[in-house]
Amino acid sequence: MRQSETQNLTDGQIYYIIHNGIRLTGMPAWGRPGRDDDSWKLVLFIRHLPQMTPQEMKEMEPFNPKSAAERSEEEDEQRFLNEGKAPEMKMKMQH
Ligand code: HEM
Repeated sequence: MRQSETQNLTDGQIYYIIHNGIRLTGMPAWGRPGRDDDSWKLVLFIRHLPQMTPQEMKEMEPFNPKSAAERSEEEDEQRFLNEGKAPEMKMKMQH
């Protein structure tokens, strides 16, 4: 999406693709029927992608979907850092 194939599309074309999807490709239609401001916001977002700063990438990271295992690991880390206690072993070694 940062590349010229996408960035050379007009705002209207990008909006149309987001709002209506692309038939027979797997790109679904998004948003509410009629004029949809959220789809226009996504156009602005796609326009901004080529200038994304590392700081912005970091700010967006928490919004990425996480697996239950990743969430649990993060919680363990936080507990350890906040209380100075090592997390319990989740898996017991068995012979
Ligand atoms: C809100 C999230 C999404 C946005 C804003 C978005 C936006 C776009 C845009 C602008 C394009 C056209 C790119 C270009 O032709 O240069 C595109 C293509 C595509 N998208 Fe999405 N997309 C989203 C989510 C998804 C999801 C969840 C899927 C699949 C499950 C998907 C599948 C595809 C596919 C397969 C194409 C390529 C279509 C082709 O062959 O021309 N998109 N998307």
